[in-house]
Amino acid sequence: MIMIILGIETSCDETAAAVVEVNNGNFIVRSNIISSQIEIHKQYGGVVPEVAARNHIINIIPVIQQALTEAKVTKNDIDRIAVTTHPGLMSSLLVGVQTAKTLALTWNKPLCSVNHLKAHLYAGWLENQPINFPAIGLIVSGGHTELVYMKNEKSFKNIGQTVDDAAGEAFDKVAHMLGLEYPGGPEISRHAERGDVTAFELPRPMHNSGDLMFSFSGLKTAVLYSIKKLNDNLSQQQTSDMAASFQQAVIDVLIDKTKAACQQHEAQTLIVAGGVAANKELRQQLIESITSIPVIFPAINYCTDNAAMIAAAGYFTEPKPLDQVNVTTK
Ligand code: KG4
Ligand code: ZN
Repeated sequence: MIMIILGIETSCDETAAAVVEVNNGNFIVRSNIISSQIEIHKQYGGVVPEVAARNHIINIIPVIQQALTEAKVTKNDIDRIAVTTHPGLMSSLLVGVQTAKTLALTWNKPLCSVNHLKAHLYAGWLENQPINFPAIGLIVSGGHTELVYMKNEKSFKNIGQTVDDAAGEAFDKVAHMLGLEYPGGPEISRHAERGDVTAFELPRPMHNSGDLMFSFSGLKTAVLYSIKKLNDNLSQQQTSDMAASFQQAVIDVLIDKTKAACQQHEAQTLIVAGGVAANKELRQQLIESITSIPVIFPAINYCTDNAAMIAAAGYFTEPKPLDQVNVTTK
């Protein structure tokens, strides 16, 4: 059986559309278009919701058209449409959802309401590797840090999360303290390559808390104090050292809790997803430290926000009547 899905994503600052073909359970990304607003939001040091929404309105139709053209499909080939309805920036989500509903109505297609976080995990399916259950999902993005227990491919149970900042948020804030550009994750990762992970002694918050909860706010404050101690005047090498020390502290906690989650729940597969999963050092160290079960990372461009993962989620999601597909806060 072949299903062709159009995915639409506008939850934050990426306007994205993708066409994914699922052929007997095999996922083929036929197009994956992302119009990033990073350059626009960089000047503000973060995403400005009002600006993001206005740019989604400008970009959404050309992005969808390009996704169809690159996939060499027309509206007639599309079997269903999947759109992110939550969580995200309300005004940004509205643009994608309203566009998807209008297309579903005029093209007479089924429409699926997709949770952005679950979609990050469904990006794991784009790798076409066997996923055995129960599986553990680690979602590390700009807004969330969550451990999820999956009994099967449609069941998600939260078993751990951050009590304050998300991992990606900590990367962004620490990058800002170090005078690096937004988004901070890739910048920290780049600088960390030249840094010494032992140069600064930083805490591993909640390392021994005995549960699967995370906290990154104290780590961020520890970085702030270390920078202040140096009178806010770090050399290039010290910036790299701080980037490396901070990144390692985050990685240590993520690996520790994820390992515990896999052991406690007798996981058969681990899926790691979300923007922070694009971090090369995290990928390498996780693979090295969890050897008893397969660890699945989506390709780097399916870790950060994209619509291929929304289409993949659409494959596993029952369509809903149009009046029930709405932006929600949760
Ligand atoms: O999943 P995502 O694209 O958007 C959200 O749903 O939030 O995640 C964005 C987050 C940002 O905080 C960004 O700094 C972080 O992912 N990120 C990274 C890397 N690439 C993106 N963090 C660490 N290392 C990276 N290479
Ligand atoms: Zn995301």
